Amino acid sequence: MSAHARLALPWALALLLALGLLGLEARAPRAPDPDFREDYFEQFLDHFNFERFGNKTFRQRFLVSDKFWKRGEGPLFFYTGNEGDVWSFANNSGFLLELAAQQAALVVFAEHRYYGKSLPFGEQSTWRGHTELLTVEQALADFARLIGALRRDLGAQDSPVIAFGGSYGGMLSAYMRMKYPYLVAGALAASAPVVSVAGVGDPHQFFRAVSVDFEDQSPKCAQAVRDAFRQIKDLFLQGAYKVVSQELGTCQPLTGRKDLAQLFGFARNAFTVLAMMDYPYPTDFMGSLPANPVQVGCARLLSESQRIQGLRALAGLVYNSSGTEPCYDIYRLYQACADPTGCGLGPDAKAWDYQACTEINLTFSSNNVTDIFPDLPFTEVLRQQYCLDTWGVWPRRDWLQTSFGGADLRAASNIIFSNGDLDPWAGGGIQSNLSASVLAITIRGGAHHLDLRASHPLDPTSVREARELEASIIREWVAAARYEQRRQGTWHRD
Ligand SMILES: *[C@@H]1O[C@H](CO)[C@@H](O)[C@H](O)[C@H]1NC(C)=O
Ligand SMILES: *[C@@H]1O[C@H](CO)[C@@H](O)[C@H](O)[C@H]1NC(C)=O
Ligand SMILES: *[C@@H]1O[C@H](CO)[C@@H](O)[C@H](O)[C@H]1NC(C)=O
Ligand SMILES: *[C@@H]1O[C@H](CO)[C@@H](O)[C@H](O)[C@H]1NC(C)=O
Ligand SMILES: *[C@@H]1O[C@H](CO)[C@@H](O)[C@H](O)[C@H]1NC(C)=O
Ligand SMILES: *[C@@H]1O[C@H](CO)[C@@H](O)[C@H](O)[C@H]1NC(C)=O
Repeated sequence: MSAHARLALPWALALLLALGLLGLEARAPRAPDPDFREDYFEQFLDHFNFERFGNKTFRQRFLVSDKFWKRGEGPLFFYTGNEGDVWSFANNSGFLLELAAQQAALVVFAEHRYYGKSLPFGEQSTWRGHTELLTVEQALADFARLIGALRRDLGAQDSPVIAFGGSYGGMLSAYMRMKYPYLVAGALAASAPVVSVAGVGDPHQFFRAVSVDFEDQSPKCAQAVRDAFRQIKDLFLQGAYKVVSQELGTCQPLTGRKDLAQLFGFARNAFTVLAMMDYPYPTDFMGSLPANPVQVGCARLLSESQRIQGLRALAGLVYNSSGTEPCYDIYRLYQACADPTGCGLGPDAKAWDYQACTEINLTFSSNNVTDIFPDLPFTEVLRQQYCLDTWGVWPRRDWLQTSFGGADLRAASNIIFSNGDLDPWAGGGIQSNLSASVLAITIRGGAHHLDLRASHPLDPTSVREARELEASIIREWVAAARYEQRRQGTWHRD
């Protein structure tokens, strides 16, 4: 409908239309069940070396759904898996399925090598000495071969491919379009911090952005956070470790500087998670969280008269959502790594730590000046030392910039970079339009890749509009790719 037609509608009709839309929204448009089939692909261990591993392969997991697909018509929507079990991304990217239903697409979620069940060397994959094949470039080559094979095997040679991803997966979707444009017609890169990971960002940006979320919630809340950390530090200086341990509810007794740094890292991480996952409805993505967790966290913090006890209550949202942790084992619940925004736990966390020690720069510090957290520096020197000790590797500070261009993506095409303004990662991504087809979409009131999630009645208008815009741009990319195929087809027959 053109803008003119809309303006010309009589008010009564407009009102009816609005009510109709509200009625539709009240019934949550559930993401249709895709009935994914889980399968494995024989993937080369090493795409870039012909000798050491020769033809050797490993099994790469992927999920596929042809439930919505119109063969010969619909595109292939390909999610470039990130640092975890592929199901967790499939379960939290309902928008992709809604769009597949609208645009009759074949859907694939591919697992990233070294994560989930896609382990090149079994459970030893994330042991030191077995990680050399874990790089962004290898992962992209995996996706490229998988796309080629699936198109052939499923009769989808003519289906234009659109890459999708969130966060690190968003980086990968953008990189797929840049490295393999003949395969991928366009990419939706949601919350993709392509600038900060390439080492051309601001090291204080991340925790400043987390702080802003709490400031914006209420200045009183932000002050309470500062007070809690100051009290902990002062009690430590007085040697009153036992008081801190009791009020915060740690399992082990605390002593000295090392425990203080661990405690600070543990506590700061709770704020990071609440800020990233600040969705308007409850989620089970990074742990089980209530709706508006920043607001709930602040309410918990301020409901205790004692600030350290308030901090304990807030941290419980992240570390005690089951309500079954009698005390906080701060070394088990949080493991410091080369990513100060948190690696998580288990083998996936180890793989991510290795990536943060090699290609992916995440040297973010908090400083208690531009943010509300204790001074916890993570400098390039500290990163180098940690990575040498842990993995025996030196980070390559310039590599991602060299390989993909960092912020300079004007020469790329057909990429949407979407970011929510609540998301602390947004400041490390592309936030302005770089060309006619490298676009930035800002989602007001949106946290970490909210747009990729399924529609929800509590979604802010901004994310509905963002999804609509994304849908129409993707439709255009697919149509243009089809047009190009036909044109070339004719060309060839002539
Ligand atoms: C290596 O792979 C190629 C193509 O996939 C195959 O033809 C060849 O037989 C393989 N060689 C060995 C030694 O497995
Ligand atoms: C994904 O969702 C399915 C079905 O709801 C559930 O069984 C599974 O545990 C979920 N997996 C992950 C990793 O979230
Ligand atoms: C890593 O990135 C930060 C900003 O995100 C930057 O300040 C720092 O200099 C980078 N380090 C390297 C080695 O590029
Ligand atoms: C943060 O800075 C304030 C003001 O300088 C200081 O009083 C406080 O002790 C600092 N907090 C921490 C945790 O270091
Ligand atoms: C975890 O939650 C339970 C139930 O609310 C509570 O009894 C317990 O003290 C909490 N643990 C910590 C460390 O605060
Ligand atoms: C980029 O362009 C799109 C499409 O024209 C527009 O909707 C969007 O607001 C622009 N983004 C920014 C950050 O200006």
